[in-house]
Amino acid sequence: MKVLLLTHPMPAAPYGLALLEALPEVTAVEYTPALTDAELAQVDAVLAWSFPPGLVPRLKGLRWVCAVSAGVDKLLVPELPPGVPVSRIVDPEQCQGIAQFVVLMALRHARQLPLYDRQARERDWSRHPVAAVRAQVAVLGRGAMGSAVASMLAAVGFEVRSWSRSSGESLEEVLGGADFVVCALPLTPQTEGLLDARRFARMKRGAYLINIARGAHVVEADLVAAVREGQLSGAALDVQRREPLPADDPLWTVEGITITPHIAAQSSVATICEQFIEGLRRLQQGEPPPRQIDRMKGY
Ligand SMILES: NC(=O)c1ccc[n+]([C@@H]2O[C@H](COP(=O)([O-])OP(=O)(O)OC[C@H]3O[C@@H](n4cnc5c(N)ncnc54)[C@H](OP(=O)(O)O)[C@@H]3O)[C@@H](O)[C@H]2O)c1
Repeated sequence: MKVLLLTHPMPAAPYGLALLEALPEVTAVEYTPALTDAELAQVDAVLAWSFPPGLVPRLKGLRWVCAVSAGVDKLLVPELPPGVPVSRIVDPEQCQGIAQFVVLMALRHARQLPLYDRQARERDWSRHPVAAVRAQVAVLGRGAMGSAVASMLAAVGFEVRSWSRSSGESLEEVLGGADFVVCALPLTPQTEGLLDARRFARMKRGAYLINIARGAHVVEADLVAAVREGQLSGAALDVQRREPLPADDPLWTVEGITITPHIAAQSSVATICEQFIEGLRRLQQGEPPPRQIDRMKGY
C-alpha cells in the first residue's frame, strides 16, 4: 500500500516516521510536484489539508482521503470521484481547546478587558458598569466543536442557545436574541457567506461575533462595515477568508476586531497519526475507514 502525505504547511516528516513505525509495509511519500504520473497512480490513500490544482485526476488508484484536520472543505473538490470515502480527524482535546478559546474571547469582551488594557497604559483607574453576567450566546453548529463550545460557555454562566440544520429553528430568530454569536459550522455551499450584512442587521445592536470555523462563513466587508457603524461591537476572528491574512487587509484596521492566525486549537501529530493509521489498517482489511463525512452533505 502507498500513501501520499500532503500535510503542508505542516512538515510531513513526523507523519512519515509514525507510519514507518506502525505500518512498515506501507510506503509513505511526501508530495512534491516532481512526482510522476506512474508514481501518483499507485497511491491508495492521502493524508491532506488541501490538494494542489490538477493533482486529484492523477491519483488514479485513490481509495481513501483522510483530512489532517476536523474540516474537510478544502478536500471536497469536484474532481474527487464520488465513490472515494473522505474522513476527518475527530479529537476531543481539540474540541476542548476550541471551547477554551471561545470562552476566553467571550469573557474578555464581556468583561471589557481591551478597554481596561488601554486605560492601564494611561494609568487610568476609571471603573465602568459590569456587563450582564448571564449574556446570551447563539452557537451555530451542534457538532463536535459546537457542542464542546456550548457546554463550556454554559459552565461559566452564559445562557446558550445552539442552532444547526436539524434544530428546526430559524437562524434569524436565534441571531436576534444573542449578545454573542459563535460560528462553529463546517464550510459548505450552504454555509459560505452565511454571516453577511442581512444577518448582522438581524443581530442585537452591539452583539459580538466569534468565528472559529472558516473565514468564508463571513462576508468580511460586511463585517467591517457593521463594526465600524456600531451594529456589532466587535469580532474575534480565528479564521479569515485569506490565510495568512495579507498586511493590507481592512480587517487588521478595525477597532474591536481581534485577529488570530487559525490557532484556536490544533490536533496533535500523535492524534492525527493514530487516527490515520487506524484507517489504513481498516483499508488493508477491506473495511470502510472510520470518521467518514457525508459527501452529499459536505461535512
Ligand atoms: N479554528 C480552528 O482551529 C478549527 C479547528 C477545528 C475545526 N474547525 C472548523 O469547525 C468546523 C466544525 O467542526 P465540527 O467538528 O463541529 O463539525 P461537525 O461535527 O461535522 O458538526 C457540524 C455541525 O454544523 C451543522 N451544520 C452543517 N451544515 C449546516 C447548515 N447548512 N445549516 C445549519 N447547520 C449546519 C451540523 O448540523 P446537524 O447537527 O443538523 O447535522 C452540525 O451540528 C469544521 O468544519 C472546521 O471548519 C476550526
